[in-house]
Amino acid sequence: MTGQNPKSKKLAPVTTLLPQIAYCHLSQVTVVGAGNVGSSLAQRIIERDLANVVLVDIVEGRPQGVALDLMQSRGCEGHNRTIVGTNNYADTADSDIVVITAGLPRRPGMSRDDLMQVNGKIVIDTVQQALKYSPHACVIIVTNPLDVMTYLAWKVSGLPPNRVMGMAGVLDSARFQTFIAMELGIPPGDVSAMVLGGHGDLMVPLPKYSTVSGIPVTELIPEHRLRALIERTRNGGAEIVQLLKQGGAYYAPASATGVMVESILLGQSRILPIAAYLNGEYGLEDLYLGVPCRLGKPGIEEIVELTLTAEEKAALQRSAESVKSAVKTALATLT
Ligand code: APR
Repeated sequence: MTGQNPKSKKLAPVTTLLPQIAYCHLSQVTVVGAGNVGSSLAQRIIERDLANVVLVDIVEGRPQGVALDLMQSRGCEGHNRTIVGTNNYADTADSDIVVITAGLPRRPGMSRDDLMQVNGKIVIDTVQQALKYSPHACVIIVTNPLDVMTYLAWKVSGLPPNRVMGMAGVLDSARFQTFIAMELGIPPGDVSAMVLGGHGDLMVPLPKYSTVSGIPVTELIPEHRLRALIERTRNGGAEIVQLLKQGGAYYAPASATGVMVESILLGQSRILPIAAYLNGEYGLEDLYLGVPCRLGKPGIEEIVELTLTAEEKAALQRSAESVKSAVKTALATLT
């Protein structure tokens, strides 16, 4: 991280607990969009005691109401983290991480392109406003279409590409992990799954790199069943939209974003699938796409290049082409 901000106003005395350390840094996360994903994420962050949260929304009263509700649960949940709801970005100053969940869900009659235009404008505007007050923050994009929104966010952010990333792979992998665990009747904690590519129909689940207690799933699940689980993972979001009838999934997206926030704030350097900027890795250039990354305090510390079969490479290439063409349209109309 370059030019670290001193953040003097967030230094809290802890002299009674740790006399040898005069001050500790209280992390702060800005969550833009106080809708379903944003408010669930804010809840996860404070209840896991990761950081204080500032929740921003364009609708007056919404972030303030959600924040007050979550503040009132603190006694029951037993933590001392604070959450502030606001319509003013000045209140978000000096955040360590900015998460963008603002945007519209797809409505009947709306194409993916229509959604891209509407959400593209929202993402560009919210990223610029938030970074005005937190110029050194890491940015995580959650708004869909994910890979395109992340590229736009990076373009207008002025940040190095490793500080801007998209949340999709952790969610897609968590869905694959769940379906594998359900299939085998085992705890999901025993399963480790890997999904690459864009967050959409062309995502690339990798059974070979998905394991149960170290055993590749290909050894445990017959091919035709594995194909069905992969298909269900690809449609993981759509299946929920169909059931809910309005709006999309939000508990799992919030959990997946929480995992990324935790890895950055605690400097865990976990290897997670993340929409990262590719500059030659996997033979792909100048796009954001889901690949395994080491994620820590500086943001993306390393992109891990896996050995892929010809079939997996071709699938990743197809996914990349589809994202690139959407980015081209977005850049032509929005910037
Ligand atoms: N600035 C700030 N907030 C905004 C703006 C804006 N310009 N435009 C919209 N919002 C807010 C809305 O007022 C709403 O509270 O974004 C919030 C979106 O919340 P929901 O409609 O509940 O959508 P949600 O389910 O949270 O999904 C948000 O995440 O997973 C993705 O596909 C999903 O793109 C969608 C995003």
